[in-house]
Amino acid sequence: MTGPQWERRIQVTTAEQTHALAAALGGVLEAGDLLILTGELGAGKTTFTQGLGEGLGVRPGIISPTFVLVRIHPNLAEGPRPGGPDLVHVDAYRLDSAAEVDDIDLENTMDTSVTVVEWGRDRVEHLAESRLEVDLHRAVGGDSAHLDKAVLDFETEDDDEPRTIVFRGFGPRWSEAPGILGTALPEGGN
Ligand SMILES: Nc1ncnc2c1ncn2[C@@H]1O[C@H](COP(=O)(O)OP(=O)(O)OP(=O)(O)O)[C@@H](O)[C@H]1O
Ligand SMILES: [Mg+2]
Repeated sequence: MTGPQWERRIQVTTAEQTHALAAALGGVLEAGDLLILTGELGAGKTTFTQGLGEGLGVRPGIISPTFVLVRIHPNLAEGPRPGGPDLVHVDAYRLDSAAEVDDIDLENTMDTSVTVVEWGRDRVEHLAESRLEVDLHRAVGGDSAHLDKAVLDFETEDDDEPRTIVFRGFGPRWSEAPGILGTALPEGGN
């Protein structure tokens, strides 16, 4: 498999920032787009998807689909993007193979929707020619000072923690990174 055409790493410090970044991305997504979200339990995949939903202007109520594998959130006429794509939210955690993915028939909705798959890596790449991969990491850019602070910071009321969110574009749809993800750092830059 060939590598990504570009990569962007963005650091956030709160769940609200993760939500806001995803909402900005949701504002530029198009019907047919496939997003693959990767990250450990509680990394923020569903939080990110909720932000996408806000930016897309779809029916709210995005949750971690514990028993339901697929939920469709229709675009709202009164939202920011009336007539825009629906959001199809998939949790592939319990799907063991591409064959099981095919059983849930995502092709039917892809053309009119943005399809977002939590735990989709190595399971759904075959569904589309292009894909946007989003990886959420608790580690912050190898900066152990930040990490120690996050781990020891148990006195605060809220549970906001830093995350590094890595975006990678594959295929013709993502020949260029969306402007809202900023410009790439030069080689050797900080
Ligand atoms: N910077 C952050 N970004 C996202 N979520 C954060 C951040 N800091 C703290 N959190 C908290 O981490 C939790 C993330 O939960 P979420 O359900 O989004 O994770 P998930 O990756 O979907 O988990 P699962 O694998 O169980 O589906 C939320 O409670 C959120 O408030
Ligand atoms: Mg989730």
